[in-house]
Amino acid sequence: MKLFLDTANIPEIRDGARLGVISGVTTNPSLASAEGIGDRESYKTAIREIADIIDGRISVEVVSLDVEGMVAEGRDIAEWVPDPWAKIPSTIQRIEAISVLAGEGIKINQTLCFSVNQALLGAQAGSTVVSPFIGRLDDIGNQGIDLIEDIATVYKKHNIETMVMAASIRHPLHCTLAAKAGAHISTIPYKVLLQMVHHPPYRCRGVPVHGRLGKGLAKAKQKHGRAGEMQPEPSTLDLAR
Ligand code: E4P
Repeated sequence: MKLFLDTANIPEIRDGARLGVISGVTTNPSLASAEGIGDRESYKTAIREIADIIDGRISVEVVSLDVEGMVAEGRDIAEWVPDPWAKIPSTIQRIEAISVLAGEGIKINQTLCFSVNQALLGAQAGSTVVSPFIGRLDDIGNQGIDLIEDIATVYKKHNIETMVMAASIRHPLHCTLAAKAGAHISTIPYKVLLQMVHHPPYRCRGVPVHGRLGKGLAKAKQKHGRAGEMQPEPSTLDLAR
């Protein structure tokens, strides 16, 4: 499963990109407005900046409500950066827009998906990827992750090539479960990316163990000159248990 960052925050995208684990970015109007992006021109500028940082797919959401407007926006977005994914919601008029744009070879991220049937329609229309919103399903008392599993199973059963991207991810467990359920991609907030490496047993009495290891290795370096070859002190490893 690949990881995308779900943000329009440039410093977060830079930090994520440096880790070498991010294959794309998803944006939407709320994420854009959270970064002070208030119009189409500044959205385009931000998307171009993101494309300079990330070697991967960038999703850009359309905001028109009618088919003609969405198609025009999708065509325009396709010119912003090389091979973007135009992000289009899963309602019936939008399925029409997906068909038109996908027919022209424009890649589509079918967003705001809440059912297997929406995912089936989007796949027939030519969506490159479908984004089930698991956090929002959890919010209304459903088990969002089940939708990832159902769509992935149905797509596999019928050899459908549309990918499944777990979206609306709120915590690291969503990410793990999405991978187990067969998602091809999870798009995650930067905060969740950081949480993915947090491991409570690596703290001892409130102090991160790597800090203790760091001290042990520094001592070893002082003594032997090359810390890289030293094993951590046994007492430090004991603390990690
Ligand atoms: C992804 O493409 C979406 O923009 C994102 O995951 C939205 O999730 P949320 O609005 O429920 O946080």
